[in-house]
Amino acid sequence: MDQFGKTAGVVARVRAMVQDGTLVAGDAVPSTRVLAAELGVARGTVVAAYEQLDGEGWIRTRQGAVARVAAGVGAGHWPTEHTARDATGHADGSASTGADLLDARPGIPAVTAIAARDWRAAWRAAADAPLRNALSDPAGLPELRAQIAAQLGLARGFAPEIGRVVVTAGTAEALSLVTEGLRNRLGRAPVVAVEDPGYRSGRRAMTSAGATLVGVPVDGDGIDVDVLGRIGPVDAVIVTPTHQYPLGSVMPVARRLSLLDWATRTGAVVVEDDYDSEFRHRGSPVPALAALDATGVVVHVGGFSKTLDPRLRCSYVVLPPGPVHEAVAASRLARGPVVAEPVQIALAHLLRTGALRRHLGRVRRDYTHRRERVATRVAAVAGLEARALDGGLHAVLTWSGRAAGRDVVARMARSGVLVSALEEYEVSPGSAPAGIVLGYGALTLPQLDRALDVLLEVLRVRGD
Ligand SMILES: Cc1ncc(COP(=O)(O)O)c(C=O)c1O
Repeated sequence: MDQFGKTAGVVARVRAMVQDGTLVAGDAVPSTRVLAAELGVARGTVVAAYEQLDGEGWIRTRQGAVARVAAGVGAGHWPTEHTARDATGHADGSASTGADLLDARPGIPAVTAIAARDWRAAWRAAADAPLRNALSDPAGLPELRAQIAAQLGLARGFAPEIGRVVVTAGTAEALSLVTEGLRNRLGRAPVVAVEDPGYRSGRRAMTSAGATLVGVPVDGDGIDVDVLGRIGPVDAVIVTPTHQYPLGSVMPVARRLSLLDWATRTGAVVVEDDYDSEFRHRGSPVPALAALDATGVVVHVGGFSKTLDPRLRCSYVVLPPGPVHEAVAASRLARGPVVAEPVQIALAHLLRTGALRRHLGRVRRDYTHRRERVATRVAAVAGLEARALDGGLHAVLTWSGRAAGRDVVARMARSGVLVSALEEYEVSPGSAPAGIVLGYGALTLPQLDRALDVLLEVLRVRGD
């Protein structure tokens, strides 16, 4: 390795020690002599690396003094995957740079709650699977699809044949795949109705796959089916009937039936995004819309992002029998397999052994506690309202004052708490009230309290 490469290696190593918390602000870094000996490099290499680190602001070196990690850098405020992904203003540099930045945006469940033994066993199963001189099945590993079908039968009220289950790389790929299938079948851009406010990443995925989107308002019962019936020809509609995203309404059976009736009459496809339905904090779980589908109009989308770990990037679609199935299956075949087979093997193991069910039992109780905390604290504040709390892992908080959601989000970020503004979910401006979306899935109760304290401070209201 050349000198430059060696220096870069030392720089990367010290940076990593700061990022993972091995070294924190104020800690002395090893002397150049000690580190050079430890790494087996020339002392000059370490001196050059420390100069570089000083120049970048990671450490402070002064003649004759011990070099120390600079103030204001430490574990915890490095951009997470989530921060990097989001282009909506959170990561705009306005956020606090303290070491205690709290990410309370929706989308992250309690991943770490899974029993380490179960998690390891699943990956051992993946490692132990016999190697094969073969390609993966584009529709997904048959064993995983069978487990998914069985799980749907137990938890969601319908048990599809395995052939109807197709594995996708997350919900976005599922929606993109369905859009592509519809486009190929229709020979033109499909017109897709979406909830307003609704799921942004889903909208992005469908537009980039060639859909023309139309926003349809949602009310306390979910998407407004009367409006849907009036907006002209629609090829598909995407809905979150069990827990409208983000506002949280549950679509009652009467509206479900009229939605299915509309789809049957018009030939439209209803795509059900069943993203967090396993978590219901009040009453019994609501069966999937697909469980009511007598005419084969529902494409059901589910996945492991909320139940297990969004980093797995594994979801699935359940296709109704008929032409839509054929079109989407053809697109799957053309795109090829998208979820690495070892991931699918590990997931199938977690399902087959009951590890996922045990994990869900555990986190469900935790989520219910967190949800209670939000409900109790918000109830004590006049002018503040919490919604979306009957299920899932996020709360929508709205207020009676005039503060805009985006301003509240920016001010909370300056105090070290990241949340999302309700406006970010709008298709047409003004479709959502001023408010924030707070994800509580991965927060401890003290963290949740801190997020709520900061919100109250920003809104200048007092909780009891
Ligand atoms: C409405 C909705 N659908 C689906 C998902 C899951 O997305 P993915 O499967 O791409 O991780 C989320 C995650 O936040 C969501 O909010």
